[in-house]
Amino acid sequence: MQRPDPADPHRPRYHFLPLANWMNDPNGLIHWQGRYHLFYQHNPNGAFWGTMHWGHAVSSDLVRWEHLPIALTPTPASPDADGCWSGCAVDHDGVATLIYSGACGLYQLPCVATALDDDLIAWQKYAGNPVIAAPPADLDIIEFRDHAVWREGDLWYQVIGAGIRDVGGTALLYRSPDLRTWEYLHPLCVGDLHATEPVWTGSMWECPQFLDLGARHALIVSAWHEGRTLYTVCLTGDYRDQRFQPESVRKFDLGDNYFYAPQACVDAGGRTVLWGWLQEGRSDQAQRDAGWSGVMSLPRIVAARPDGLLQVTPAPELEVLRGQLQRLAELELTSAWHTLPMQGASLELIAEIVPGTASRIELALRCSPDHAEQTVLRYDRERGWLEIDSTQASLDATTEHDRRGGPFTLPEGESLRLHVFLDHSVIEVFANEQVCITGRVYPSRADSVGIALAAHGGGAQVNRLDVWELRSIWL
Ligand code: FRU
Repeated sequence: MQRPDPADPHRPRYHFLPLANWMNDPNGLIHWQGRYHLFYQHNPNGAFWGTMHWGHAVSSDLVRWEHLPIALTPTPASPDADGCWSGCAVDHDGVATLIYSGACGLYQLPCVATALDDDLIAWQKYAGNPVIAAPPADLDIIEFRDHAVWREGDLWYQVIGAGIRDVGGTALLYRSPDLRTWEYLHPLCVGDLHATEPVWTGSMWECPQFLDLGARHALIVSAWHEGRTLYTVCLTGDYRDQRFQPESVRKFDLGDNYFYAPQACVDAGGRTVLWGWLQEGRSDQAQRDAGWSGVMSLPRIVAARPDGLLQVTPAPELEVLRGQLQRLAELELTSAWHTLPMQGASLELIAEIVPGTASRIELALRCSPDHAEQTVLRYDRERGWLEIDSTQASLDATTEHDRRGGPFTLPEGESLRLHVFLDHSVIEVFANEQVCITGRVYPSRADSVGIALAAHGGGAQVNRLDVWELRSIWL
């Protein structure tokens, strides 16, 4: 197995990724016998998408991972001959069971596999695969794949991601007594391909997740259109009698497809822990040359707030990675960049900023001393908008340079609380435990490790600024 290059300036140190080659969606997340199992879409043949297998890793603490052998490999002349695509894992009366999409030719159909051991290393594919022979005949379905399965009373339910031609994305609801015979019920929810407000949801929904968050249910889908992965959309609302009534629709992460195809599991403590696939922002050739592509997000804890919106926070377990803390005393921000004494490419930063009279607050990350390279996290208070601006992130013109963001309004009287994780080419931001935004950046200069702050249109005050160096998760 190819070993990672320790000098690779863009390879994350504390985000999960395989030793080499391609990774996309998290799959089969399950907290099994005290350990977190993370499976993922993996091409062992190179740093490009193709021949999908299920890679596998395990963790006792949610932070440090051990790589395990590949769990699912396509079987020639079978329903998954062309790939073991995304799916989930459930505990079926003590037997860990996978429901995944077997790819064969142009189509994908639901398949089942069961664990042969408690370490979830060896899997037996069900001889009766596929367990659903075709999409529902009464709908004109354009795509049909990816699974979320849960239990209600004596029955299993699942949603499968799909799109209805000229209508929109959908999550189709099924029911089963045994995970093998499935009865189609109805669409749990249907998007409107023609509606652009509050957010356009594309023509097909990949990787549906249906989460019971107590006060609310959340349907999280990855909006897809004509082969393009757009972003993750979260619908929250009420679920009753197998019907879901969405009340709000928004992007789950304002970094668009830098955070895609998330999957969640409920751990033994009852927490909903969610990971997403952080796509690359550099050329296919650069990915192949690097020998790796795709990063798993940090584990995010998702909960319903009293107002029905989601609360999203980084798992507190991540604090074990903290090394040296540097703390800054109070600081007045002006329109001139204030460069901080701390710097690095593998950092955690918590800032609390009173917006004062400022209309815009900017935090520059991965910044060179002359600001020729910098990535700006910007809160535009007038517009009610949070964005990551990577237009100057790298002098390497082949990397993506853009601005990605979305609506974010600070409640009256609240300070701006930014919780930022920097890990080489990855930026993950949690703002006021309310919105997340993910970025990918590839600075070309070794001295692009600075941090600077500024406020425009008035003054703002930093009340707290803590920066930790973070350790690698690999021993
Ligand atoms: C999402 C996705 C899924 C599919 C898998 C294939 O990124 O396209 O819809 O099952 O990846 O790798």
